[in-house]
Order: sequence, then structure tokens, then C-alpha cells
Amino acid sequence: MTMLRDRLAATDSPILDVLAERWSPRHFDATAPLDEAALQNAIEAARWAPSAYNSQPWRMIVARRGTAQHDAIVSTLSGFNQSWAATASALIIFLTEHHNAEGKAQPTAAYDTGQSAAYFTIQAQSHGLFSHQMSGFDPDAAAAALEIDGRFTPTTVMAVGTLGDPADMTDAIRERETAPRARRAAVESVLVNA
Ligand SMILES: Cc1cc2nc3c(=O)[nH]c(=O)nc-3n(C[C@H](O)[C@H](O)[C@H](O)COP(=O)(O)O)c2cc1C
Repeated sequence: MTMLRDRLAATDSPILDVLAERWSPRHFDATAPLDEAALQNAIEAARWAPSAYNSQPWRMIVARRGTAQHDAIVSTLSGFNQSWAATASALIIFLTEHHNAEGKAQPTAAYDTGQSAAYFTIQAQSHGLFSHQMSGFDPDAAAAALEIDGRFTPTTVMAVGTLGDPADMTDAIRERETAPRARRAAVESVLVNA
């Protein structure tokens, strides 16, 4: 599909194919069932992410399309995110445990949760399961709607699923989906390179 080729990262040095192939789509197939094996593998990949002191401060709430939990998560998304993410095969809330069981602060907890989410996305992508992370949601509303234990803070919502038919995209979404993918040069991210 032309679109898939267009979304490939134009890298300055070679990276793994699966990294170059990942992008965050906003057009999910509203009928595609979730690839359960891919989901399981992605959760397993997240499990094996590194974390400070091996604290593993992440948790997930997985909600498949058609469930009350999926509807509840959709209702907590910002209006724009609702416009495209509601059709995803699953919505996953990534939660962070900012204090351990003894009440001690885990200062890198959100960083660790982000690593587990990154591992998830790459494993999912390797199976052709696309993902799109979102901070545009109401974490308090999500905590209330899903009756989430107060130990865990909703950090992001991730839409996962199969790409939709490009012909079905609204003009607003098509504009975003065809915009060039850009990053600053790698050298600009390396402030010191001694
Ligand atoms: C923590 C986080 C929050 C994000 N929040 C949103 C969001 O609320 N809505 C949205 O459309 N995209 C969101 N994105 C997607 C980013 O805009 C996207 O990853 C970025 O533009 C790079 O594009 P790419 O993932 O396709 O390479 C988020 C991504 C991350 C990692």
C-alpha cells in the first residue's frame, strides 16, 4: 500500500525495520478483530522492559472494542482523540505506580512505564498491530470510570488495531495522515558528544 511506504521513517542512519515501520495512525479498522496473539506478545515484551531496581511500576487496563470498558475509556478521551480512536480494536490505559508498596517514591516510575509502552509498541508493530499513544484524556475520569486502585495513576491511553481503509478517512484525518513525518536531526539531540 502506497500509504505504508510513505509513512516509513526516512532515517539518516540505519535502524531496525520494525522501528522505521512504526508510526501512530489515526485511522483504525472499526471491524477488525484484535489479533490476540499479537496482543499477548506485546504485553510480554512490555513485561521485559528494564526499570529502576526492576520495580516494574507499570500496569495496563486492556479494553477490547465492544466492551463497556472500551466505551468508558472512549468517554475520557479528548474530543479530537475520540474522533479517531473509538474504532481501535483495543484501548489500553498504561498506569504508573509512583510509590512502591512501602510508600517510597519511585522517581523514575513514569519513565519506566514509558519504556514498557515503547517495548509494547515495537513488539505489536512486528506483528502488524498498529498503536497510537495518547495523553489527551482525563486521567481522573478514567480512574473513576474503571475503578482503578489509587496506587496507580493513569498515564497514557494507547489505541491498538489494524489500519483502516484510507478511502474512509475524513479530510481532517487524511491531512494529518499524509503530512510528512519529521524529526530534528539526531545530532541536535546529543548536547555533548565528547
Ligand atoms: C505520551 C504521548 C502522548 C501522545 N498524545 C497524543 C494525543 O493525545 N493525540 C494524538 O493524536 N497523538 C498523540 N501522540 C502521538 C504523537 O503525536 C506522535 O507519536 C508523534 O507526533 C510522532 O509521530 P509518530 O508516532 O507517528 O512517529 C502522543 C504520543 C505520546 C508518546
